[in-house]
Amino acid sequence: MASDSAPWLYGFWYPALRSDQVRGDAMATAMLLGIPLVLGRKRTGEAFAMRDACPHRGIPLSYGHFDGEQVQCSYHGWCFEAKSGQCREMREHIFFAESRHAWNRRQIGGQLGLSSSA
Ligand code: FES
Repeated sequence: MASDSAPWLYGFWYPALRSDQVRGDAMATAMLLGIPLVLGRKRTGEAFAMRDACPHRGIPLSYGHFDGEQVQCSYHGWCFEAKSGQCREMREHIFFAESRHAWNRRQIGGQLGLSSSA
């Protein structure tokens, strides 16, 4: 009898997309084992796949830009090396500027009060 709660089988190979769907500088998306993925090919032709969620705030990386080497998140501009997924650049000044803009601060007794301006 089949069960809806059968565990996913990790450590096996599964088809994600047809190879011709992953080419050029365009990124493609797929869902595999319940995990959203962004896929592409580096300039060398080497394919990559990463979880399609920025580790900063979770926006899909597939909304961003791929230059053939790095995927840049569309939200705050962090850059990830496509194959390893390692963050290579954090544009903190953008994040800091947004944080200053989004929140008002006020000293209330011994507490730092925050309010959103949005
Ligand atoms: S959500 Fe991606 S850099 Fe902030």
